Amino acid sequence: MIHNQIIIAKTPESAGRCAAQHFRALMQTKPYCVLGLATGSTPIPLYRELIAMNQRGEIDFSTVRTVNLDEYKGLSPEHEQSYRYFMNDNLFNHVNINKANTFVPNGLAADVGAFCLEYEKKIEELGGIDIQLLGIGHDGHIGFNEPDSFFPKITHETQLTEMTREANKRFFDGDIGKVPTAAITMGIGTVMAARKVILIATGKDKAEIVKKSFFGPVDPQVPASILQLHKNCVVILDEEAAGAL
Ligand code: F6R
Repeated sequence: MIHNQIIIAKTPESAGRCAAQHFRALMQTKPYCVLGLATGSTPIPLYRELIAMNQRGEIDFSTVRTVNLDEYKGLSPEHEQSYRYFMNDNLFNHVNINKANTFVPNGLAADVGAFCLEYEKKIEELGGIDIQLLGIGHDGHIGFNEPDSFFPKITHETQLTEMTREANKRFFDGDIGKVPTAAITMGIGTVMAARKVILIATGKDKAEIVKKSFFGPVDPQVPASILQLHKNCVVILDEEAAGAL
């Protein structure tokens, strides 16, 4: 039984604007909301729209808390390809958020196991995630939950697949050797516990995996397929990513 609502927007920009409306509705009704955020190319139009809404006075970030999906292992927050740097650069530096209320996994944690448990505890203390934003990898990964024989439950350390490192080398001077081999990511269980999930996919290179994820069997080899079982998941596609449906 598929519960997902699928919205097809014309362009990546209109997909971003559509997602921004969901965020605005939440932020206007729940000032202390918890936003689960993602990095990568896909959310950039959404973040631009949220910045514009903040500048127009439509949304206020001053009491909002955020938790990010993942971070590369071994990268410091100052590293330009770290996800902390990405979030500051693409959203937090441009809105009235208190950075002390923004949480990104610590890629330099000495005791990763202990850190992962703390991260789960932090999400719980914040009251759980109101909207979790997701992109999708070509192999169906969400966060950095790669295809596997099971769905990982909580925040954990994970090895990145060759496909993911290949896709992300564009951010590392095109050199796969510079792409970290491991990351810390929320688990599938962490994502599924969010009260609402918004997955955005844009571009024709995502068309096949979108079809497999939302119209194929639920299978840990296609991690995003679990979202078929989420009661409040909105999938926002542009026309190209919807091209195989
Ligand atoms: C990013 C993340 C990843 C990306 C996915 C798609 O925080 O968790 O799952 O959402 O790799 O990346 P883009 O949007 O660059 O195609």
